[in-house]
Amino acid sequence: MNPEKKSKKELIDLVNHLQAQLSQSGRRPAQGTSEEDLYKIMAQSSQVGFYIMQNKRFQFVNQHFLDYAGYSESEMLQMDTLNIILSEDRRKTSKNAVMMLKEQRFSPYEFRIVTRDGRIKWIMETVMSITFKGKRAILGNSMDVTERKEAGRRLEELEALESSILDAIPQAVVGLHERRINFANHAVKVIFGWHREELIGKSITMIYRNEKEADRIGDIFYSTLERQRTYETEFPCLRKDGQQILCRMKASRIGEKLREKRIVVTYENITAEKKAQDDLERSRQELRNLSVHLQSVREEERTRVARKIHDELGQSLTALQMDLSWLASRLPAGNKSIREKTQSMSGLVDATIENVHKIMTELRPSLLDDLGLPSAIEWQAADFQKRSGIRCQTRIDCGNGVIDKELATAIFRIFQETLTNIVRHAKAVHCKVSLTANEKEICLEVTDNGIGITQWQIDDPRSFGMIGMRERAHLWGGTVHVRNARPSGTTVRVLIPLDKGERQA
Ligand SMILES: Nc1ncnc2c1ncn2[C@@H]1O[C@H](COP(=O)(O)OP(=O)(O)OP(=O)(O)O)[C@@H](O)[C@H]1O
Ligand SMILES: [Mg+2]
Repeated sequence: MNPEKKSKKELIDLVNHLQAQLSQSGRRPAQGTSEEDLYKIMAQSSQVGFYIMQNKRFQFVNQHFLDYAGYSESEMLQMDTLNIILSEDRRKTSKNAVMMLKEQRFSPYEFRIVTRDGRIKWIMETVMSITFKGKRAILGNSMDVTERKEAGRRLEELEALESSILDAIPQAVVGLHERRINFANHAVKVIFGWHREELIGKSITMIYRNEKEADRIGDIFYSTLERQRTYETEFPCLRKDGQQILCRMKASRIGEKLREKRIVVTYENITAEKKAQDDLERSRQELRNLSVHLQSVREEERTRVARKIHDELGQSLTALQMDLSWLASRLPAGNKSIREKTQSMSGLVDATIENVHKIMTELRPSLLDDLGLPSAIEWQAADFQKRSGIRCQTRIDCGNGVIDKELATAIFRIFQETLTNIVRHAKAVHCKVSLTANEKEICLEVTDNGIGITQWQIDDPRSFGMIGMRERAHLWGGTVHVRNARPSGTTVRVLIPLDKGERQA
C-alpha cells in the first residue's frame, strides 16, 4: 500500500476507535471522573496528536501533538490555533475542518504546520464536534505524515524516473507474466511497429515468427531464469509489417526468484549490424582465401623454378665441368697458358654450380621435401648463423610423427621471416630456436636478445611480415604470439594444433 494511503487508514481506524470510546463513556460515565479528565485520559492513551479547541484556543493538547509542533504545553495553550498552520494552508484547512464538522467530508485532510524551530511539517487531521465544559468544542486527531509524504513523493518521483528511463532507452522493453505482455515501453513501436497499447494484454507470440518459435524461446527463458538472474541470446522476431528481424534479447526475472513467470525482456534489432558483420567476415575470409591461394601459387612456382634450374642449368653445368676435365686431361704437355685457362674455367664453373645451388636452396630448400621440417629448420639456423654472424642455438624435439608437407612449408616460411626480422631489426647477438611437436600440437619458438618490440609494431596494419605469419598460422587453426623476451629481445611463438579437424577452410 502507498505510504499515504496507509496513514489515512490508520488515522481513520484510530478515530473510529476513539468515537466508540466516546460514545461508550457518554453512556456510562465513570464515577468521579469529570468530562475533562476523561478527555485527558483518552489523549494520553492516544497514538496520535490529540487536541481540544474552543474559540480559536487550544484547551488542551497531548504529548504527541506537542512533539510535532515543538512547543511547550503552556505556549500552545496561549496561541491562536490558526497561527500554527502555514499561512498558505490556513484558508483551505479551515474550510476542510468546517466541512468535516458539518459531516460533508469524511476523509482526513492534510496541511502544513510551522514548528517552533521554523520547520515545515505535513499533518493529516480529522476533527469532530464535541461538548466540552458544557460548550461546543472541536476535538482534533492529527498525525505527522511528513516522512510518509516524503517517501510517497520519492516513490512517485522514482516511478516517473523509471518510466522516463524506460522510454529513453532505444531497446524495446517488454514485461511478461505467463507469456502475456503486461508492460511495454514506447520503443516497441520502433522495433516491432506495434503501438504499446496494441501489445499490452496480448500474448508475446505476436512478436515472433510463429507459435513454435515463441514457445521455444519462452521455454529457454523460463528454464534458464530459474537458475540465473539474466539470460542473453539472439533470436529471429517478426514486425507488424511482416518483416523478419534478428533481435539481441536480454531477459531478466523480476525479483530474487522466478515467481509466477514474471520476466522483463529487452529487444534490440541487430539485423543490419549482423549483416555488416557477416559481410565483413565474408570479405575477410575471401582475402584470406586469396592470400592462401597466392602463397601456394608462389610456393609451387618456386618449386618449379628450382627444379628447372636443377634439371637444365645444373645438369648442363655438370656436363660442362666434365667436358673441361676431359679437355684438361687431353691438353698437350707444356702448353701452360691453355692449361691455366682451363683450370680457371673449371673454377668458374664450380663457383657457378655452387651459386646455382644456393639460388635453388633459397627458392625452396630441397631438405624440406627430402628430410622434413626438423632438418630444414636446423639447416636454416646454421646457414643463418654463418651468414649473419648471429649465434643460433637450436633445440628440436619432434618425435617420429610425420608433419604434413604444406604445414611444414608454412612453419618453415614463418621461421625464415622471424630470422629475416632478427637480422633487419633486432640488433641481437644470439638467438634460440626451439621446435617441439607431440600428437596434439607443433610449436616453434624463436627468441633473440635484441632491442625488443613494441605492441604498436606488432599490431601495426602495415606490418605485413607479422600479418603474413599470423595468416599462415591461422590457416592451420594456429596462432602467432609476439612478445618481449626477458631480460631483453623478442620472442615469436607459433602454435599449431595437429588435430586435423581444426584446419580452417
Ligand atoms: N625480432 C625483432 N626485434 C625487434 N623488432 C622487430 C623484430 N621483429 C619485428 N620487429 C619490428 O616489427 C615491425 C614489423 O615487422 P614485419 O616483419 O611485419 O615488417 P618488416 O620486417 O618491417 O617488413 P616486411 O613486411 O618486409 O617483413 C618491424 O618493422 C620492426 O620494427
Ligand atoms: Mg619482416
